[in-house]
This record gives sequence, C-alpha cells and structure tokens, in this order.
Amino acid sequence: MRLFKQLVGVFVVLGVLVGALMIFSYDVVKIQWVSFMGLQPSYSTQEQPLPVPALSIPVEGPAYILANGAPNNPVPSDETSIARGAQIFATNCVMCHGETGQGNGIVSAFLVKKKPADLTGVLVQTKTDGALFMSISNGVFNPQNTLFPDDKFSGQMPPMNENLTVRERWDVINYIRTLLATGQ
Ligand code: HEC
Repeated sequence: MRLFKQLVGVFVVLGVLVGALMIFSYDVVKIQWVSFMGLQPSYSTQEQPLPVPALSIPVEGPAYILANGAPNNPVPSDETSIARGAQIFATNCVMCHGETGQGNGIVSAFLVKKKPADLTGVLVQTKTDGALFMSISNGVFNPQNTLFPDDKFSGQMPPMNENLTVRERWDVINYIRTLLATGQ
C-alpha cells in the first residue's frame, strides 16, 4: 500500500512537470525568447521584397542594373544554351506560348485580356535580346487590368525573375531565336 502511494506520488509529480512543459510547448503561455533574427532587415509574407541597394550587381552575373538600360546577351547561342533553353521553355512557357511558341498553349484559351505573344512573330523577333530579357524578368505589367484589380499581372506575361536564374533567362532567349530560324 505504501509502495502504491509512493507510485501515485511519483506520477502526480511527473504529471505536473509534463503538464507545465506542455503549457510552453503549445504556446499557452507565450514567451518572447530573445531572438536577433527578427532584428535584421527582412520582409514578411505578403510583403514586397526590399528594394535592391543602389549600384549593386547580382551575384548571378549581368542583369538589369537601374539606369543602365537593357543588358546585352552574354551567353553565346551554342548547342548547350539552346538545348537548355528548350527545356526551360517546355517547363515554364509552353502552357501559355505553345509548343511552337505561337501563343497557342493550353492556358492561352483562359487568358481573356491578353493572348500570349507569338514568339515567332516579327513583333517579338525584332526586339533585342536585352528587351526580351526585361519582359521575361519583369513580366508585362498592365495597369489597365480591371479584371484583376489586385494583381495587375494576372492573365498577363508573369515576371519570371524569381523562377529562372539570369543564365536560364538568356538560355531561353537563345532558344526563342531558333523558333524563327526553323520557320515554326
Ligand atoms: C501565364 C501565361 C504565360 C507564361 C507562363 C509565359 N508567358 Fe510570355 N506572355 C504571356 C502573355 C499574355 C504575353 C503578352 C503580354 C502583352 O502583350 O501584354 C506574353 C508575352 C511574352 C513576350 C513578349 C514580350 C514583349 O516584350 O513583346 C515574350 C518574349 C515572352 N512572353 C516570353 C515568355 C517566356 C520565355 C516564358 C517562359 C519562361 C513565358 N513567356 C511564359 C503569357 C505567358
């Protein structure tokens, strides 16, 4: 009987201890731990990323630098680049611009405001690589997009700067150039 009482005592003490720990682990009592992570420049979800510091150059290599105009294509249009570009195109662009790049991808039927550009057409092909780089990086913004007032990019050419590295964007541009050459 004494042993039983002692056991109950041990369990009660254990229970209280575990219970006390649970209160903290489930944030019933919220403790503000000292954290220096929160003190650095950062942005939270749904917030715009911080602006790029003046005169900074991306580690990925030449990209758009404010007030410097559209960049030149530093990636030679060789077999490797075009093959990479074709893959990137198949993954990121075909749904809107279509297999042949003529703007007839599966998703294009749902884009009511603006149809994806015909990448084989004169309008796109006469633009410089730098201009295409800017369009692919920043998307084609439409302030008149009344259909999606909260997101002016909806139903438009989306900005790809977060999806594709700088090198990948040049590869895909080198690929787009072949769409004309093969007469597709
Ligand atoms: C959500 C559909 C969608 C996807 C995905 C998409 N585009 Fe577009 N793209 C568009 C639309 C719509 C336009 C026409 C924009 C306009 O004229 O206002 C466009 C226009 C363009 C243009 C012409 C821009 C100009 O300056 O004339 C290029 C080049 C282009 N897209 C390349 C790409 C590449 C490369 C990819 C993949 C990395 C891609 N797009 C992915 C919808 C898309």
